[in-house]
Amino acid sequence: MSMYLTPEQQAILDGSKGETLAKVMKTLVMFGEAFGADKMVPVTSKYNHLVTSFGLGVLQPVYDLMNQLIDSGAVSGQKFTADPRPLDKNVPTNLIQDLVFKFFMYNKQDFYEGQLQKLGLLEKDAFTCTCYMDAVGNKPEKGDVLSWSESSAVVYANSVLGARCNRNSGILDIMGSIVGFVPHFGLLTDAGRKATWVVRIETTKRPEAQLLGSAIGMKVMEEVPYVVGLDKWLGEELNDAACTYLKDFGAATASNGAVGLYHIANLTPEAKELGESLIAEGAKEYVIDDAELQRVYDSYPVIWKDRNAKPKLCFMGCPHMSLQQLKDWTTKIERQLAANGNKKVLIPTVFTAAPAVLKEFEKTEYAARLKATGVITSYICPLMFMNNPVCGKMPVITSSNKLRTYTTARYYTDNEILDQLTKGGN
Ligand code: F3S
Repeated sequence: MSMYLTPEQQAILDGSKGETLAKVMKTLVMFGEAFGADKMVPVTSKYNHLVTSFGLGVLQPVYDLMNQLIDSGAVSGQKFTADPRPLDKNVPTNLIQDLVFKFFMYNKQDFYEGQLQKLGLLEKDAFTCTCYMDAVGNKPEKGDVLSWSESSAVVYANSVLGARCNRNSGILDIMGSIVGFVPHFGLLTDAGRKATWVVRIETTKRPEAQLLGSAIGMKVMEEVPYVVGLDKWLGEELNDAACTYLKDFGAATASNGAVGLYHIANLTPEAKELGESLIAEGAKEYVIDDAELQRVYDSYPVIWKDRNAKPKLCFMGCPHMSLQQLKDWTTKIERQLAANGNKKVLIPTVFTAAPAVLKEFEKTEYAARLKATGVITSYICPLMFMNNPVCGKMPVITSSNKLRTYTTARYYTDNEILDQLTKGGN
């Protein structure tokens, strides 16, 4: 092995902590070497986060591997949260969908959740992709080294929190956590965190977070953008509104491209600290104005069989919504329903959020008001729900660019969604 290992790391590799841990270490070292890592560094965050939260019947090799880890006592030293559950009885389904979920898709859900508990799952409320919300409590500190792989959480942790994490893949996340080290390359290094793109925002109004993220993701792919001009719309303080915007923006950059880190001039921690010295020499430039955002919007293919079909479902909250988003949407829907002379939303609508955020929401007066509009709340992952041939045929609308990218769901801006829910039409 050409990577430098400390005596402790070498000893683990040589089997000092048992055969299973040696194999885990070897996997991480090989992964690191493939990406030119120079060493292994300690994972420093308090908690870990796992991307694999669903008990798909076809994932038997994963369950076997998890069993090996549990049997050999190689459980995580870190407790962890995990991505959202794929099922929730609150979400409206038909009989066929129920049968498909229960017998053909997520028939291992209970078994897998049992494995996760043995491995160190934080608690029952731990299933969400927005684990960094205050109500959930898995919020890394600036400079923390993580072993996460959920792309929307990785890009948030790197960019908004200033933690350090590569875009790992599922299972490697738990491996890094179990052994306590991850390979040092890419976004863990100062050089890897430099921006190779400067993106200039020249729009005449606040750009839609999910659309702007999509445009940048598709342009820069896996590179790091330094975004200039967004502070004009978001301000210079990472308050609740700015963090919520960046959550949705980042998820779109990460799914429409493969962005793992972005810097927003005058706003995100490293950009505030280091300014334009974060921009690498020879960085490319991308200017985004109203016309460019429109071009990107118009480029989305509609893959519904009947593009004029009436939507059967609306999913909001991919990534999971924040408490403030739930409150704001409650007010917006009430106001628009009243303006249009309607009492309930015209399309079955599901708002998704972390279980802990939903609990907080339930404590507010907004919860009953939202319920009265007909909107359902859930902790589900909309993508896991939709990613099968039965649900895939349904005309679903969303303002999530991640959901649009990975499923047949059709993207609309927040205002267009609001119109459809309260006025109808396509
Ligand atoms: Fe979260 Fe599932 Fe969307 S994990 S980001 S709700 S695809």
